[in-house]
Amino acid sequence: MAMMQMNSQMVIAVELERALQEKTTRIAVVGLGHVGLLLAERFVAAGFDTVGIDTDATRVDEVNGHSGGAYSARGELVASKDYDVINSREVVCVCVPTGIDQHLQPDLSHIKAATQQIAARLHAGQLIVVESTVFPGATEEFILPILSKSGLSAGRDYYLGYSPNRIDPGNERHDLRTIPKLVAGVTDTCQAMTVALYTQITSKVIPVSTTQVAEMAKLLGNMFRNVNIALVNELALFCEQSGINIWEVIEAAATKPFGFMKFTPGPGVGGHCIPVDPLYLSWCARKWGFQIRFVELASSINSRMPEHVMNKVVNALNTVGKPVKGSAILVLGVAYKPNVGDTCHSPAFLIMERLRALGAEVVYNDPYVPSISHERLALESVALDKEALQGADCVLLVTNHRDYPYQRIANQAKLIVDTRNAFADYPGPHIHLL
Ligand SMILES: NC(=O)c1ccc[n+]([C@@H]2O[C@H](COP(=O)([O-])OP(=O)(O)OC[C@H]3O[C@@H](n4cnc5c(N)ncnc54)[C@H](O)[C@@H]3O)[C@@H](O)[C@H]2O)c1
Repeated sequence: MAMMQMNSQMVIAVELERALQEKTTRIAVVGLGHVGLLLAERFVAAGFDTVGIDTDATRVDEVNGHSGGAYSARGELVASKDYDVINSREVVCVCVPTGIDQHLQPDLSHIKAATQQIAARLHAGQLIVVESTVFPGATEEFILPILSKSGLSAGRDYYLGYSPNRIDPGNERHDLRTIPKLVAGVTDTCQAMTVALYTQITSKVIPVSTTQVAEMAKLLGNMFRNVNIALVNELALFCEQSGINIWEVIEAAATKPFGFMKFTPGPGVGGHCIPVDPLYLSWCARKWGFQIRFVELASSINSRMPEHVMNKVVNALNTVGKPVKGSAILVLGVAYKPNVGDTCHSPAFLIMERLRALGAEVVYNDPYVPSISHERLALESVALDKEALQGADCVLLVTNHRDYPYQRIANQAKLIVDTRNAFADYPGPHIHLL
């Protein structure tokens, strides 16, 4: 009897693996945001029948109205608000948001809601893979128990994998196909099924031994950036005091052909990952009575940069005899990084709010962000014309978008605070560099 049961479990696994290889598996992607939409589109382009599920009706309508792109003969991506579509899907990938709450605790509320919906429809032979960023241990300690309420057993009846999403929006060199995919499962069979899935859509799949390793590897990647950005930010503050040009120092150090990776200072960190993910690790460490000081130090240094930039604007205005109160400030770039329109956790907001609180008249231009509505800020991007540049008492460059006309800005603006060394080719006494 036990042998027969084992054989039937093996048959289910072999069938799923073969269906994945033949791309006859039907896939659902839960959460059609930055990560989920790209993933779903990638599955479609690879030839999988794919449906997206999102709780946001507007998002669902947007996706269903969307046409074009590299879609296969199987048709375009279809989106739905209805979790029942999972009933006819063999694979479900979870890409819902995760974050940190006001007490710096991980917020897995969206993961919980999505997993409960999946658990209510879970059936034998299904593969569930979580791509959202979570703290080490979350797949086994948080997600697995919710799915287990279905009465089905992972590795025996269905498969549960974790594969962190490591996309870098706006990166023109690396995308889902080329970024090596870390995959793990809560059992060996779960890992094998997850490998079989991602082998169909990415060029390099790297299996790791546990879901905790995959979860932590994702966090290490983001922590590495956070810590190195904090290092150059702190050095930038020191160099400013001592009259050394940090940008030249970094270029000089980067000539070493080994053992160095270039990071640059800036107005603070933003985005979905770097300001948030390292905090998962701090929280997790505290549970074990451990303190990861690098995480806290890096976050504390980076979070002070917006204040420093605000002070630089105040000091720059002072050099031309102007108080910040009543001064017109034109902020260039509110996206959290160049060449994208995403303003998630952008340091620009804090800087603009603080300058406004000091009485400055703040406007912004961002070719990628037509308008902003953030807490006390509701503004539309102004034209970057001669009038705007000459009319500003100070132009503050926060995000160095590729298509800004830097030479014209340098010529037309009276006073510039440059947080990115974007005006390196057009120096002048009116440019105050971080
Ligand atoms: N954005 C990035 O650059 C990036 C990169 C790597 C990893 N990540 C991680 O990937 C995950 C998703 O991030 P994102 O940037 O795509 O988020 P997002 O906010 O852009 O999109 C998430 C989507 O999920 C939907 N959603 C929320 N709860 C839902 C639920 N219960 N059921 C169905 N849909 C639901 C939302 O409506 C939204 O459309 C997060 O864990 C994030 O940390 C993000």
